[in-house]
Amino acid sequence: MKLGIIGAEKQEVDLLVKALSGPEGAARKRKAGAFEFFEGNLRGCPAVVVLSGIGKVNAAICTQTLILNFNPDYIINTGSAGGLAAGLAVLDMIVSADAVQHDVDAVFFGYKPGQVPGTGSPFFTADAFLRKAALSAFGKVMDSESCRAHMRLPEGTSPKIIEGRIASGDVFVSAADTRNKIIDLFHPACVEMEGAAIAQVCSVNSVPFVILRCVSDLAGENANMSYESFSRFASDISAHVVMAIAEGLKEEQK
Ligand code: ADE
Repeated sequence: MKLGIIGAEKQEVDLLVKALSGPEGAARKRKAGAFEFFEGNLRGCPAVVVLSGIGKVNAAICTQTLILNFNPDYIINTGSAGGLAAGLAVLDMIVSADAVQHDVDAVFFGYKPGQVPGTGSPFFTADAFLRKAALSAFGKVMDSESCRAHMRLPEGTSPKIIEGRIASGDVFVSAADTRNKIIDLFHPACVEMEGAAIAQVCSVNSVPFVILRCVSDLAGENANMSYESFSRFASDISAHVVMAIAEGLKEEQK
């Protein structure tokens, strides 16, 4: 069993690459296509971690390269997001129920908003087993004093997790009209820039996937400032949950 883990920014994969251990201590680095892949054991689970770069096309090329060269059994996308669902606060988490590309519009050709031409639906469904594993991993991370200390959670913060729809597009959302349009069309829990592209590639290749995102901002007028202040914390929280998933999957294999 092998996990493939994709993050778009360095801060989203840093902890994971550090936590990987290979036969000589550190993870093994291997270049494939345009990307550097880090292979090793993550909390005892075989894993390959890669930095895709920001945006849907980077994420799609990276996912296909990962699948063709490393043949992972599961793919997890980790990172930060702009929260959209009512009641979500900064540092809360979203585990994908499904994902949609909010910037795809082929309605003129008879497709639904968000539907990629040639696919059957605008929505790519996440794997039920990985979703469950993510929810349980989040509980373990938040119950662990050492994880909480390591994540440097601000005093009194108690992040929650919800399952919901992830909307992805090649835009950092910080304008009310864009935010409202995405909410009206797709009712997502959060917005980011890679997840649904990864989901599309996973679906084409029949690889089960889940997207895990931690809220760095609320995709509104002060999203930029909030992102600057919280994306590092959000990236670390999401990475901790990925590590707990890996630990759970290792137990699963016994
Ligand atoms: N990732 C984190 N915050 C985001 C936002 N507001 N828009 C798009 N991607 C994001």
